[in-house]
Amino acid sequence: MSSVFLILFTILAVSSIAQSTVPSSKTFKYTFREQLANGSLEEEHSGLYTDIQVVRTNSPFALCHYTTFTPVYVLGIRLGIHLVWEANKANPVQLNSTLTFGLTGNLVLARPNGHVVWQTGTANKGVVDIKLHSDGNLVLLDKQGKFVWQSFDYPTDTLMVDQPLRPREFIEQVTLRNSPAVDEPFLSELTLNFKTRNFASLGMWLANPKFDSKFSFLRLGDDGNLKAYSYFTKANMSWNAWEVTYTLFSREYQHPSECHLPEKCGGFGVCEESQCVGCPSPNGPMWWSKTCSSPSKLPTCAGGKTIGAVSYFEIVGVDHFSSEYSRRTMRLIECRDQCSRDCKCKGFFYQKDTSKCLLASQLNTLTKAEGTGTDRVAFIKFAK
Ligand SMILES: *[C@@H]1O[C@H](CO)[C@@H](O)[C@H](O)[C@H]1NC(C)=O
Ligand SMILES: *[C@@H]1O[C@H](CO)[C@@H](O)[C@H](O)[C@H]1NC(C)=O
Ligand SMILES: *[C@@H]1O[C@H](CO)[C@@H](O)[C@H](O)[C@H]1NC(C)=O
Repeated sequence: MSSVFLILFTILAVSSIAQSTVPSSKTFKYTFREQLANGSLEEEHSGLYTDIQVVRTNSPFALCHYTTFTPVYVLGIRLGIHLVWEANKANPVQLNSTLTFGLTGNLVLARPNGHVVWQTGTANKGVVDIKLHSDGNLVLLDKQGKFVWQSFDYPTDTLMVDQPLRPREFIEQVTLRNSPAVDEPFLSELTLNFKTRNFASLGMWLANPKFDSKFSFLRLGDDGNLKAYSYFTKANMSWNAWEVTYTLFSREYQHPSECHLPEKCGGFGVCEESQCVGCPSPNGPMWWSKTCSSPSKLPTCAGGKTIGAVSYFEIVGVDHFSSEYSRRTMRLIECRDQCSRDCKCKGFFYQKDTSKCLLASQLNTLTKAEGTGTDRVAFIKFAK
């Protein structure tokens, strides 16, 4: 008896899922054609965008595709001139590729030969509609209005207001929030909120944009810098529509300054007050240039051990861009021995005042130490 019910129930369940398909009026097939672009994106993406007008919103966000000067296309979401989300950055598609939202509720980006490049993987999961919300979230909805898929779950280098970022381990969730400033009602306030596993929420104040910061985002740039951008919808000129409202590594601060950006001075170089000021070498300092690099002649290694004579030259008054010195104190000679034994170690940093050691497998930007800083010394490895 019970097995009859089970079969009946299964039939009912299957047929009810089968009923929830996308109404044909909502389906679309959009083809990437050569056409006049709607505008150009800001420098970071330096491309031309074309809006995909089958999915619209009443906000400055738009579903679009963009192309750089080669005829390949990336599907994305833009906020004004900034791209805030990309579907297929690593796999651009060529002309005549298609974006299809079919009856089954799957959103598929495919090459002209039908090869699928990207998809939401939501076929037959009860999707009935697609929407671009006014907060920039592209969502696929079921009959109850629940999100079966949302672009907010697939962040790229950009975090938008109220988009939860879920890193693993210690921090459960990071969210960029916009709210009216407490004391000054004319200002808004941008904060970064952390929900940790062990403690209550922590909020980090970022900025008080001079206008409503609802349309803001935080971006991790290719150079490793973190910046918030805010968009002012009421601006009537494009030049006053955007403001960089927060910069983590800034020219205006001592710590962290631009000199703490690992690649500020490329592979090697001394940075002082946001300028690359020198390229140290075993034969003494030289002017910094893009080709400045740490000694290429390193002692040979075999089986993880250093063979041959190891030498170091000293640079007084600099720190490594990161500041992960050992907790344990040690003598300079111990720090040096550890570096000499380690083939990956390209140099070591030693704090004479605290007797702390840092071994570096990557040198990059050397940050001029604050104050006189003569108790901070870098020792760069080379083969004699
Ligand atoms: C964007 O470009 C398309 C195709 O060239 C055009 O049909 C559409 O009107 C443009 N939209 C805007 C907002 O300019
Ligand atoms: C794209 O499709 C158009 C119209 O079907 C065709 O004329 C054109 O050759 C195609 N271009 C490419 C690169 O496949
Ligand atoms: C732009 O807006 C400002 C302030 O609202 C106004 O004073 C100005 O006349 C406007 N300019 C144009 C070109 O509409």
